[in-house]
Amino acid sequence: MHDFRYVGSKLYCERVSVESLVKRHGTPLYVYSQHTLADHFAKLDAALAPLDHLVCFALKANSNLAVLRTIVNLGGGFDTVSEGELRRVKAAGGDLRKCVFAGVGKTECEIEFALRAGIYCFNAESEPELRRINKVAARLKKIAPVAVRVNPNIDAHTHAKITTGTYENKFGIAFEQVEGVYARASRLKNLRLRGLQMHIGSQLTEVKPFELAVKKVLPLVTKLARKYDFEFFSIGGGLGIVYDPALDSGDAKWWEQPKAKKILTPQSYANTLVPLLKPLGLKILMEPGRFICGNAGILVTRVEYVKRTGKKNFVIVDAAMNDLIRPAFYDSYHQIVPLTKQGGAPVSSDVVGPICESGDYFCKNRPLPKVGEGDHLALLSAGAYGFVMASNYNTRAQAAEVLVSGNKSAVVRARQELPELWAGESVPKWLK
Ligand SMILES: Cc1ncc(COP(=O)(O)O)c(C=O)c1O
Repeated sequence: MHDFRYVGSKLYCERVSVESLVKRHGTPLYVYSQHTLADHFAKLDAALAPLDHLVCFALKANSNLAVLRTIVNLGGGFDTVSEGELRRVKAAGGDLRKCVFAGVGKTECEIEFALRAGIYCFNAESEPELRRINKVAARLKKIAPVAVRVNPNIDAHTHAKITTGTYENKFGIAFEQVEGVYARASRLKNLRLRGLQMHIGSQLTEVKPFELAVKKVLPLVTKLARKYDFEFFSIGGGLGIVYDPALDSGDAKWWEQPKAKKILTPQSYANTLVPLLKPLGLKILMEPGRFICGNAGILVTRVEYVKRTGKKNFVIVDAAMNDLIRPAFYDSYHQIVPLTKQGGAPVSSDVVGPICESGDYFCKNRPLPKVGEGDHLALLSAGAYGFVMASNYNTRAQAAEVLVSGNKSAVVRARQELPELWAGESVPKWLK
């Protein structure tokens, strides 16, 4: 599942001790395993092998250039949502012709950039957007490849903030409207209708919602593919990962799911979906983010203080919600382990950051090994939607990122220096 494990009492990433990285680079520190990234990509790629397919890594999950380069080297494409992400792919040596461009709010500038770059396809999320893409393409004397993102109105049974495929969500075009939208789009001279796309949500731990969505959309895509000579159907991302190992053993709850089952694997996903998709005869795109990088990264933090109040044992660490916002934002669970394994009875603890918000916590009332000032903890499964959501709240510098491969390691993003945080700011003359 991933390459973080104890060797003796010390936590290792592949063949590098995490403690040695902390000594060299300090904390808070993101550490990524290149082998885990590659392994997860390969597992998905292999599971989809019976289909003509392209795995397009959703770089919103982790856009570090070294992570992107790992995917480039494996032949992957990319699911992007901004000009910035397209430029990142280019900076990492990626081929923009293997990029799809999603998002509900593409600006004219972004569309122009993507068109000039020759991306594989725009995944359009509204009719006004299709008209805008057509207008920009006409101005540039180009033909824009487009797909419509269909909203199949299927509940992904995941956290409300990462459900995207129901009519409560802003994403895509309602299933019932899609045919009409294609008919009108086919009259726009500077568009080429290249395919259809969907994405119903993130962190799905069961195949059923994927299956329901594919079964619902298949007749539509079959009909449209014939009519408009489609090349591809994108089934989006959303494959969930194990955050809590107890989940995988069936003991824990995942949000409201009453009884968590063994988590979805690429093979079980493919066993259900490949037979449905194969007869379509189209290229199948998939847009995984979390599955590839989630368990490939950890966030390492130093214990600054242990504070016992009347009720609680607070472990105050040097990482905070500005480094990893998932617990505050989504009530997410991250397993927390010490860099040096120790015996002794666990202590019920809240691990909290230094930010002035009550929401700045990583866990509450969790039995954890007894730790003291100067000890280090690792928050596991922090490789997706971790660093990419970091901010400078409380004027805190963003963490460094390190990539490990075997016994090698390299800083792939330097720790921010504090003056960088106000480098673009100025005080107007009248205040001086
Ligand atoms: C259109 C689209 N594709 C793919 C993804 C990646 O999702 P995940 O990281 O759950 O695989 C997202 C995530 O928000 C998305 O919006």
